[in-house]
Amino acid sequence: MVRETQLSVDDLIYPLFVCEGRGARQGIGSMPGVFRLSIDNLVKEARECQALGIPAVILFGIPDKKDARGSEAYNPDGVVQRAVREIKNATPDMVTVTDVCIDEYTDHGHCGLVEGGKVLNDATLELLAKMALTHAQAGADIVAPSDMMDGRVQAIRRALDGSSFADTVIMAYSAKYASAFYGPFREAADSAPRFGDRRSYQMDPANSDEGVREALQDIEEGADIVMVKPALAYLDIIRRVRDAVNVPVAAYNVSGEYSMIKAAGEKGWIDPERAMMEALLSVKRAGASMILTYFAKEAAQVLRR
Ligand code: PBG
Repeated sequence: MVRETQLSVDDLIYPLFVCEGRGARQGIGSMPGVFRLSIDNLVKEARECQALGIPAVILFGIPDKKDARGSEAYNPDGVVQRAVREIKNATPDMVTVTDVCIDEYTDHGHCGLVEGGKVLNDATLELLAKMALTHAQAGADIVAPSDMMDGRVQAIRRALDGSSFADTVIMAYSAKYASAFYGPFREAADSAPRFGDRRSYQMDPANSDEGVREALQDIEEGADIVMVKPALAYLDIIRRVRDAVNVPVAAYNVSGEYSMIKAAGEKGWIDPERAMMEALLSVKRAGASMILTYFAKEAAQVLRR
């Protein structure tokens, strides 16, 4: 009766990595329990999530071909676009979110077009808008730009509205920090930048006012949901954004946050199940309405006991 915060399976969004081929289920060394799945296995996974009551999945593509312009990212028949169609076919009620960013598709590994060693903000917007539109056309319910180029929410909103996808939701990675906690993801997605780092477009971990500013800006541009990422080292940002906006706030419990608990658990240094539930509860308590987390399935199992 006096408990202030409830964690529910309804709050969880499960990230999935989708690769080419059939029958593929490749483990990721730094993320025990997480796999790169071909579309056939991805659909099985979506069914399993549905059976556990998990309402949403977010898809990340691992294409076979990468190039300087990330062409596979906005190929209407790309791996994510096909995956969305199959998931919506097999499990129509599964809310399907797609990550919109070209870093998994570029040979240089950056989230934008690169010229002379620099990431070009404005030239990238058109590609992101095209990518989001192909996701919506494939049936995505929510597109989630994670690239951190300025002005991308507006560019995506215009492209969607202009092609009668006014109902497609935008979940903006608004306060996304340049974080060491993305390390395992970059192994999973093979997306580490080949030169430099992401600090020209991702945020300085020292900045809190800027996180609020980014969220307000994204809402102004048309975001329906704003996200803070990572989650655990940024609980204060989640709370500040929650208090500043009147749209739902999402938080991304990122790969490194997952792997740390898994690794310490494997060593017998902490109780991994309790640590998982405590971490997720803290993100909820900080003010997030929904949590993107690799723990979604395990947490769902604990919550139903
Ligand atoms: C970019 C993207 C990243 C993550 C989600 N989207 C990696 C990055 O910015 O380098 C990281 C997620 C995680 O660590 O779990 N497409």
